[in-house]
Amino acid sequence: EKGDFDHFMLKEIFEQPRSIRDCMRGRINPEAGKVALGGIKEYAEKLKNIERIIIIGCGTSWHAGLTGEYLIEEYARVPVEVEYASEFRYRNPIISEKDVVIAISQSGETADTMAAIEIAKEKGATIFGVCNVVGSSIPRITDAGVYTHAGPEIGVASTKAFTAQVTVLTLIAFYIAQQKGTLATSRLIGLLTELDNIPEKIQAVLANNDLIRDIALSIKDASNCLFLGRGNGFPVALEGALKLKEISYVHAEGYPAAEMKHGPIALIDKEMPVIFIATKNSSYEKVISNIQEVLARKGIVIAIVTKGDTQVKKMVDYCIEIPDADEAFLPLLATIPLQLLAYHIAVLRGCNVDQPRNLAKSVTVE
Ligand code: F6R
Repeated sequence: EKGDFDHFMLKEIFEQPRSIRDCMRGRINPEAGKVALGGIKEYAEKLKNIERIIIIGCGTSWHAGLTGEYLIEEYARVPVEVEYASEFRYRNPIISEKDVVIAISQSGETADTMAAIEIAKEKGATIFGVCNVVGSSIPRITDAGVYTHAGPEIGVASTKAFTAQVTVLTLIAFYIAQQKGTLATSRLIGLLTELDNIPEKIQAVLANNDLIRDIALSIKDASNCLFLGRGNGFPVALEGALKLKEISYVHAEGYPAAEMKHGPIALIDKEMPVIFIATKNSSYEKVISNIQEVLARKGIVIAIVTKGDTQVKKMVDYCIEIPDADEAFLPLLATIPLQLLAYHIAVLRGCNVDQPRNLAKSVTVE
């Protein structure tokens, strides 16, 4: 039931402090700096010596996979490739028994993802599933896995399942780091303590709902939107753009901010809202130069910034603050305002947010 909310999507966005808490339950011990993932523990030894990981998925799940690539490479120092399952299955992929494939799927029923798993299995790879629906088809054909435990997701556009997927991938990155010894225990204690506080920080982001609705009101008639971010802000930008196009039918693109000058900059004029992930992290100064490039062409800039930011705030049209956190957790926090922005734009445009045209909750055809 929707309870006090007008739509399942809004309810599910607001459930995220709880769904992420459920996803971490029993899996992290911040005091000890330990991650336990019962579903893949038989493979702990394999992960210790792993040379390559391939992540597959479609749509939003593929975006979660991109965040996983950053996290696993950064913390566990294992090379990762992320592939659309629909492409992977048709191109005779080079894969062997040495590889681990992580298949991500909210529904656990996506036909392209299932077919890609079968191919990887034939070639002898070990397959982990990261699924939300318990007992769905993908968990039954994988060797092992980690459920996201986000609870049933009714809105067709994925929200809480995405942040739970990102949470699981964060845990997998830390788990592999723990096996391989690429993260000092003291560092892991710090990271897990922060992760444990992410649900409260998401609650604080949700408190910006009215502000985000006001921003939506001012850009709702735009026919195009650009979403830009760097590092792990890039998959967040892709996901923000996908949410907007799915439910509001506004054309939107996500790009790495640095790629803007190689093409999309030609689109910028005074009608074009550009949404930046501009939090205080390693790419902050670079993102500020990208914002200046957009402002010089009269684009409308909406920036997701770190709480207390003054530098970006005085430059741009609209700012949405998110709490400060280690860069590892940027995708979990920065995604929330983009989900709300897409939601309000769609509602203001009179769209059916829970059941967008032409889309189905699980895509069981190729
Ligand atoms: C986006 C969305 C789709 C799904 C995609 C994969 O909001 O819902 O892009 O993410 O169809 O679905 P699953 O994760 O069920 O395999």
